Amino acid sequence: MNKQHLDKIISLCKRKGFVFPNSEIYGGLKASYDYGPLGVELKKLISELWWKEMTRSHQNIVGLDSAIMVHPDVWEASGHIANFNDPMTDNKDNKKRYRIDDLLSRQKSKVIDAICSKLNMENTSNDDIYNDIAQTLLSDGAKSDGVLENAGVIDPYSGSIGKWTSAVQFNLMFKTDSGPSEKTGKSIYLRPETAQGIFINYLLVQNTMRLKVPFGIAQIGKAFRNEIVARNFIFRTREFEQMEMQYFVHPSQDDSSMELWKQKRLDFYLNHLGVKSENLKFHQHNEDALAHYAKDAYDIEYNFPFGWGEVEGIHNRTDFDLKQHEKFSGKNMTYFDTKSQEKYHPYIIETSTGLNRLFLMVLCESYFEDTENNRVVLQLPYELAPIKAVVCPLVKKDGLPEKAMSVFDALNKEFPCVYDEQGSIGKRYYRQDEAGTPFGITLDHQTLEDESVTIRERDSMKQTRVSIDKISTFIHDNK
Ligand code: GAP
Repeated sequence: MNKQHLDKIISLCKRKGFVFPNSEIYGGLKASYDYGPLGVELKKLISELWWKEMTRSHQNIVGLDSAIMVHPDVWEASGHIANFNDPMTDNKDNKKRYRIDDLLSRQKSKVIDAICSKLNMENTSNDDIYNDIAQTLLSDGAKSDGVLENAGVIDPYSGSIGKWTSAVQFNLMFKTDSGPSEKTGKSIYLRPETAQGIFINYLLVQNTMRLKVPFGIAQIGKAFRNEIVARNFIFRTREFEQMEMQYFVHPSQDDSSMELWKQKRLDFYLNHLGVKSENLKFHQHNEDALAHYAKDAYDIEYNFPFGWGEVEGIHNRTDFDLKQHEKFSGKNMTYFDTKSQEKYHPYIIETSTGLNRLFLMVLCESYFEDTENNRVVLQLPYELAPIKAVVCPLVKKDGLPEKAMSVFDALNKEFPCVYDEQGSIGKRYYRQDEAGTPFGITLDHQTLEDESVTIRERDSMKQTRVSIDKISTFIHDNK
């Protein structure tokens, strides 16, 4: 897969009703997308699989749906106001603004060599160096002035070397006011992660559900980040959905719990989302790149058409968050173990993934150009297919449409189906191949004689004659 495949997937998404560019009639809003009829189903199916796996498969993990807007002190306590920043620079010539790590990552070795030699930094690995450079630029504004320009960093927009400003910190949280024209109170922020809603509710959840450590709290919900560079379709957007689970453990169990969740989460990708193992890898954060709250962190990365990209983070957040909330709220955030009589702040192992990224990953993994048969097939696992079967009368006469409609009505009660009588049967099948529909059911003249239909399987294109009353058994056995 290469970048061109991404363009083809974007085009398929629009054509088939998975994802539409947002506000298109007004010229669009950058990096904002709407999920169409098939997209909303696919997104729901992925999130349901996650929910089932994280809550119903564990007797000690429960759900929560906390608010997007919370008390502003939450973000002081969490460290997001102080630390949730990206270093940026502007080109003084054309006022274009870039994230420094992104700017450098596009121009790699040439520029990095020049900057490293100017700043006397050791240039060990291109992939790890961006943060170091950004940090150095930020920690010494005077020294950083002119560094990017002297190193020949090109503005991707103008194509020539930019007149770059010193690095400035840019907080990624969206700020707003609560209530009509409130001027005096503190600003409210749209949450940049769902996790904090879990931390501030953890004792209420633990008490009401009478949970004992170790236990987990899972949540699915929207998060917002004012990303400077939003790109690669739905991979990085400013509004997205997170699926997070915070697992509360005794501090002595943090490492073993981390290992457990790394394995469980990888299994989810392999066994539930049908991703091939060669397209997945772990990336451990080195110490400099760790988030302000983390002791240890691994990303699960997927091999996207534009390169490896993070789909999930598994973090050891220690007791950082609970202690911070205790400090800022003045409320005791300790857990009391009635058996051992021990009082402590549990450590938190977090699994955090983006629903929209999983959506894109699933599409990339299933997209297949079947050149032999001149068709595009979305080889979605049955569980993720928005439509499970298309029902087609071979011709629009002789009572076949009526008969097909009655088959459709019966099957549609069991699983989502569509009815299609438009165009040649080949075209109808190919339309559904692109939508990822696993089965095609066709009624023909023989149906009128013996109550049998043809069932065509999406990937193999194999056709089998089955009696109408056996259709759902066939689908169940062959899905
Ligand atoms: N609570 C921890 C946390 O938020 P993160 O690594 O910043 O950690 C977790 O984000 C996941 O959220 C990422 O692995 C990614 O799947 C998703 N995510 C983060 N920013 C995103 C964005 N701008 N657009 C889409 N998904 C995003």
